[in-house]
Amino acid sequence: MMAREIETYGELAAGIQEIVISEEEIQERVAVLGRAISHDYAGRNPLLVGVLKGVLFFMADLLRAITLPVEVDFIAISRYATAGRDQGAVRLVKDLETPIDGRHVLFVEDVIDTGFTLHYLLRTLRARQPASLEVCVLFNKPQHRLIDIPIRYRGFDLPDRFVVGYGLDHRERYRNLPFVGLLKPQVLHDLPTE
Ligand code: IMP
Ligand code: MG
Repeated sequence: MMAREIETYGELAAGIQEIVISEEEIQERVAVLGRAISHDYAGRNPLLVGVLKGVLFFMADLLRAITLPVEVDFIAISRYATAGRDQGAVRLVKDLETPIDGRHVLFVEDVIDTGFTLHYLLRTLRARQPASLEVCVLFNKPQHRLIDIPIRYRGFDLPDRFVVGYGLDHRERYRNLPFVGLLKPQVLHDLPTE
């Protein structure tokens, strides 16, 4: 069944070794998160904020699972080239278009790993004095967490493996897979294929 699901995606999925979270599991979980957010924010017109580009698919599905009037805005960041994975120093290359002072802001992320990126971005947003600021993360990788971030809404805990799909990329590819999968080692490590 899993193998057939991979085959459906043809050339795109040729680099996938195994499905970690299926499309159905993702959609069910996103619906649950949407219901929880709709309940908790009733009457409050929240602003959902996401970081491009990985959050695109989660944001689109989550918005449609929320039964309240909501607004959405995005920021884009670039990581400093010298920083490496553990530094988390990021630069805003696209800021929000929406003023957030006095707004109920829900920060939506696809994946949290060390927590550095989120920590930096939350500090930046908090300085603008929103009425509230909470975090919704679809994929949590707890093994590498270096900064503790309170996560109000959490989708899945992921194993300590590099995964792609549903927004997550490897060199900008695989984002458009509807499931989350493991890459074949030869793709991950850029080895020649047969
Ligand atoms: P951190 O929480 O600051 O370590 O950064 C998390 C960022 O690392 C995410 O926004 C992703 O861009 C990237 N990332 C972490 N794990 C994965 C993965 O398994 N696949 C693809 N990107 C990942
Ligand atoms: Mg990436």
